[in-house]
Amino acid sequence: MHRRLIAPGALAAASLLLAIPASAAEASPGAPGIGDPYYPYYGNGGYDVSHYDLRLTYRPSTDELSGTATISARTTQSLNRFNLDFLLDVSEVRVNGNAARFATSGEHELEITPKSPLAKDTPVTVVVRYSGVPSTKSAYGFTTWHRTPDGAIAADEPEAAWWWFPSNDHPSDKATYDVSVAVPDGTQALSNGTLQSTSSQRGWTRYNWRQNKPQATYLTTLALGRFDVTTATSDGGVPVLNAYSKDLGDNDGAARASVERTGEIVDWLSGYLGPYPFSSAGGYVPNTTTGYALETQTRVYYSPKQFAGGSNTSVVVHELAHQWYGDDVSIAGWKDIWLNEGFARYAQWLWSEHEGEGTAQELADYTYASHPADDPFWTVAPGDPGPDNQFAAAVYDRGALAVQALRNAVGDETFFAILKGWPKSHAYGNASVGDFRAYAEGVAGRSLKALFDTWLYDTVRPAQPAVASARGTAPVRPASWTKIQATNDVHGG
Ligand code: TRP
Ligand code: ZN
Repeated sequence: MHRRLIAPGALAAASLLLAIPASAAEASPGAPGIGDPYYPYYGNGGYDVSHYDLRLTYRPSTDELSGTATISARTTQSLNRFNLDFLLDVSEVRVNGNAARFATSGEHELEITPKSPLAKDTPVTVVVRYSGVPSTKSAYGFTTWHRTPDGAIAADEPEAAWWWFPSNDHPSDKATYDVSVAVPDGTQALSNGTLQSTSSQRGWTRYNWRQNKPQATYLTTLALGRFDVTTATSDGGVPVLNAYSKDLGDNDGAARASVERTGEIVDWLSGYLGPYPFSSAGGYVPNTTTGYALETQTRVYYSPKQFAGGSNTSVVVHELAHQWYGDDVSIAGWKDIWLNEGFARYAQWLWSEHEGEGTAQELADYTYASHPADDPFWTVAPGDPGPDNQFAAAVYDRGALAVQALRNAVGDETFFAILKGWPKSHAYGNASVGDFRAYAEGVAGRSLKALFDTWLYDTVRPAQPAVASARGTAPVRPASWTKIQATNDVHGG
């Protein structure tokens, strides 16, 4: 009995092995993480996504989200299994048209076993049919899906996608998007890029958004709710679409007085950073209780609290600067976060100067002076801050000090050439801090190793910059200081 059961199985296995081509026989599972040391399980190994097509339906009253994700990818190894990152309930998966087996594992892994192994370097189409109530799902004990009185919002960093679409959730795998969402008439669905069309039938309106330039998963946003939408075109020709919850209360005026400056600020930033890289710009202010803003690509997320103290163009400058530093050129790994935050903060310093509220040098001097040598601020290395300090004040403020140190070392002409040339040199791609140093050294024509080591990697307070010490007196607090510091409160409640 025993033997009879074993023997046919062994025979079948042997003939199967013979039938499978060598490459597929070597197929192995894709890694459950893409290899980011800060977040070992974020993203996945073995493939590279080029496009996400999300066709969804959302009911604000129950927070039910359902639909289909069609993912176009290319394998980077031969795969007998691969993962997506996702939390909602999956009912069906197809790979290249064939039904595939699937299971969940870990905190947010969806493991997919295609009917037959996938050869290396071939195109693959994955269809995931799903539904669920995102607000009931958590990973590592937290959720970043934000319910509002009129709907919900997906906008968070570094994780937001798990609650609404299956993905290779890491900034190094950028893709284009079509996001199509049906909501009850009267509710709107907002996402990145341009609104291609809307259609209505039987009480539901479908919004079709398109992002035609590569976009990182954490920069992909979804807002469901009741909004007032404004549209315009900047003097520089950039189409602008902004949206305000109908329910912003006392913050409504200040929110509009800030975010309606988007076109002007995009054009102003273009003078420093080069042509705006995307087909649309704008922001939205939903009725959330969060405190932060986020540089979601082309459609920035602003918490109403950012405007509780009155209008705030500084935060608009910060988030729009990210469209070049973070969105167009995205970080290679999460340790490279200085490339985002150091430069977005520096753009706020340049805006302060533009507004007559303190020069970048004055802000640098004051920032340096406000952290004594024994301040733990100096123990965070902006060039590799570690996951716990990824968004520490030092990444922003010491990060911008590093930018000012670079400016003083190479001189204004070279510095502004670097500032504008960098986004172009890695347009729509990814880059690391090391890549930036190499680029800056190329433009400057000399090594900048000592400068980068001192300002980005040393865990002690660097010696006082010559420019500041030459002044001799204690720096005065620039008028823009308080507002800029307020944008540090990224996780503010
Ligand atoms: N990148 C955001 C900014 O520049 C800040 C941020 C950090 C953030 N961590 C976050 C935003 C978490 C939302 C959620 O303003
Ligand atoms: Zn930022």
